Amino acid sequence: MKIQIINGPNLNLLGVREKSIYGDSSFETYLAGLKQRYPQHQIDYYQSNVEGELINKLHEVGFSFDGIVMNAGAYTHTSVAIADAIAGINTPVVEVHISNVYKREEFRHVSMLAKNCKGVIAGFGMDSYRLAIESLTV
Ligand code: DQA
Repeated sequence: MKIQIINGPNLNLLGVREKSIYGDSSFETYLAGLKQRYPQHQIDYYQSNVEGELINKLHEVGFSFDGIVMNAGAYTHTSVAIADAIAGINTPVVEVHISNVYKREEFRHVSMLAKNCKGVIAGFGMDSYRLAIESLTV
C-alpha cells in the first residue's frame, strides 16, 4: 500500500522541542524504524510549517495513495482550509497526535479536521503514527 505521512507546523523540531511532551526522538529516526517494520508498504514523508503547502500535498497524493496519516499540529484546531482539503480528496486520512490532546489546554480539545477523517489516534507518543498505519492497512 502507498501511505503518506504528513506532519504540520513545528513537528520538524521533534526531538528538540518540548521533550517532556513530545519525546526525544527526531521524526527521521522514528521513520527509519517504521520503514523497516513495514517493508511491504511504501511510506512517504512530508513536513511543512506552511498551511497551503500541507493542502497542496493532500491534493497531490489524495487521489492516488491508499492512506494518509496526518498530524496537522496546531492547524488541527484552527484550519477550515485543511478540513476542506481532507473532505475534497478520495484517500482516507487518519488524524494523529503524539500527545493526548484531551489532557492538555482546552483549545486543543477541538479538532476542525476529525469529522472529515477516518479516525483519530492521540496520546500514544510516536507510536500514534504506527497505530494509524495499522488502522489503514488492516
Ligand atoms: C500535536 C498536538 C497539537 O495541539 C500541537 O499544536 C502540536 C502537536 C501532537 O502531536 O500532540 O503541534 O498535534
